[in-house]
Amino acid sequence: MCGIIGYCGPKPAAQILIDGLKRLEYRGYDSAGICIGNNGSLTVVKKKGKIRDLKAIVPKNLQGNFGIGHTRWATHGGVTDINAHPHTDVSGKIAIAHNGIIENFAVLKAKLESDGITFKSETDSEVIAHLIAQNYKGNLEQAVKESLSLLEGTYGIVCIHIDEPFKIVGARNGSPLVVGIGEKEMFLASDVTAILAHTKQVVYVEDREVVTVTCDDYTITDLKDRPINKKIDEITWELQQIEKGDFAHFMEKEIFEQPESITRAYSGRTEAEQATAKLGGLNLTTKELLNIERIKIIAAGTSFHAGLVAAYLMESIARIPCNAELASEVRYRNPLVERNTLYFAVSQSGETADTLYAMRELQRKGATVLGICNVVGSTIARESDGGVYIHSGPEIAVASTKAFTSQITAFYLFNLILSRMRHMSFESGEWYLKNMLAVPDSIKIVLDKAAQLKDMAGRYAHYKDFLFLGRGINYPVALEGALKLKEISYIHAEGYSAAEIKHGPIALINEETPSVFLVPADRLREKVISNIKEVKARKGRVIAFCNEKDEEIKSIVDDFFEVPKVPGIFNPFVMVVPLQLFAYYCAVELGRDVDQPRNLAKSVTVE
Ligand code: F6R
Repeated sequence: MCGIIGYCGPKPAAQILIDGLKRLEYRGYDSAGICIGNNGSLTVVKKKGKIRDLKAIVPKNLQGNFGIGHTRWATHGGVTDINAHPHTDVSGKIAIAHNGIIENFAVLKAKLESDGITFKSETDSEVIAHLIAQNYKGNLEQAVKESLSLLEGTYGIVCIHIDEPFKIVGARNGSPLVVGIGEKEMFLASDVTAILAHTKQVVYVEDREVVTVTCDDYTITDLKDRPINKKIDEITWELQQIEKGDFAHFMEKEIFEQPESITRAYSGRTEAEQATAKLGGLNLTTKELLNIERIKIIAAGTSFHAGLVAAYLMESIARIPCNAELASEVRYRNPLVERNTLYFAVSQSGETADTLYAMRELQRKGATVLGICNVVGSTIARESDGGVYIHSGPEIAVASTKAFTSQITAFYLFNLILSRMRHMSFESGEWYLKNMLAVPDSIKIVLDKAAQLKDMAGRYAHYKDFLFLGRGINYPVALEGALKLKEISYIHAEGYSAAEIKHGPIALINEETPSVFLVPADRLREKVISNIKEVKARKGRVIAFCNEKDEEIKSIVDDFFEVPKVPGIFNPFVMVVPLQLFAYYCAVELGRDVDQPRNLAKSVTVE
């Protein structure tokens, strides 16, 4: 979604801001802009389209050492140059960039218009610039604070004033904002990737805090002017992790990184002597863990699919009732928080509004919610009652891949802890650990055969509709395979339990609708084979993802990909990776913008 960057320091601001916006591209956007301050002037340059379109119109001689930049993902008002940020007040002395949604903007706009102000854009954000101008009496920070008290909704904002050079005021409520501390230069950004090339020292701004940065200092206060001392965090990500290297796309790089990212997710967390695992951040005593009677997982999109895998796993292995639910639905159905129930909020970005708000609602009702997050210092990571970082490293492609396998790795560890505390024997624990640690090697086998999936994509990318079908713990993987294909290739795809097709979706089967079956040699294999035959009998094309040397399946389907044989519960790892690759190669085949698919954003910070 929208991205923000601000810079104040000795270097030419335009270049730093454009480079920072380029790093934010992955979040998804449709227009971008910068505002540069220099010797009593503010220059705004903004453009719909890509950062390269913006760069093309930024004057080469644009001087100035402080400024703000923004990538916009349209909510209020179409994708136009005028609606792009930064927005200025009537005098052009104030410029702001805003992430989030101002819910009472219509009322504020009507009032400002009745005061004689003419709006230039259709955005909700422009009201902020005019409000700050109305409240400005020589102190930008105060004017921002007074204006914030009038806003309802979410915001991460940065603001500059022509009369207060080398100063940026920022504030947050619901949209992330981080201060980057450099050598005689300071940054503000919605996302650390925007500033990682310049500094690793950061301070996270919390909701209802206001930050003022100058070239060599920053202050953070609350809305009542009380100073807030915060600790400086060190970003652990490396610059090369947010660069593509030799890969054609970030998505390809991230798929191929999975043997390492999964290893990072479990490293230092296994205890061979006890045949169990340890997760330091849970903030739960052994007694509290033992008292858990039920587990509920909330998440969105791919993270929700990871939650569904976890629910199958924990119910069948740890023998604890467990279910996963869409966070967006949980929040508004007045959820019941039962005793001895442990909640997990799963989110790669840690900023997804649907998940965050549902988590807050559950916490308000007294629930203990643990976070499973990738982005360190993200809002869900900070506000949850404990949790697990998955350490995938930055996930830049909009389509989530390595986060999924690391999220489930975190759950496989947690499941082992719970199981070993209850009924799982030492020997079974050893077996479980051995197989879990073997997952990266099994994934390498899949990755080594990527060329087969590329060929397969070449044969199938022209189809318009697909079904993805799996059973048991592979059912959520089928959902994930369908999601991957549709989001990056724009091919229509639906995921179902293979058993479910006879209850409706089988009506879709014809020569033009291939079905992708996940059919490992587990206890549901025979049933899935029957489903395959039902599809074949109706002239449907079938692609099977099956185990090596499963000649029976290979003989009845049109196409197949062999995955290494692993014990049933570990199949999601080896099944999801070829589906990610299949989707990736289909999208490449169709010439899609793989890393930034249309209409999508990486971090969905609005409901
Ligand atoms: C799909 C995808 C989305 C996200 C969803 C939740 O590839 O990326 O479906 O999984 O928006 O995002 P997080 O995990 O950041 O909460």
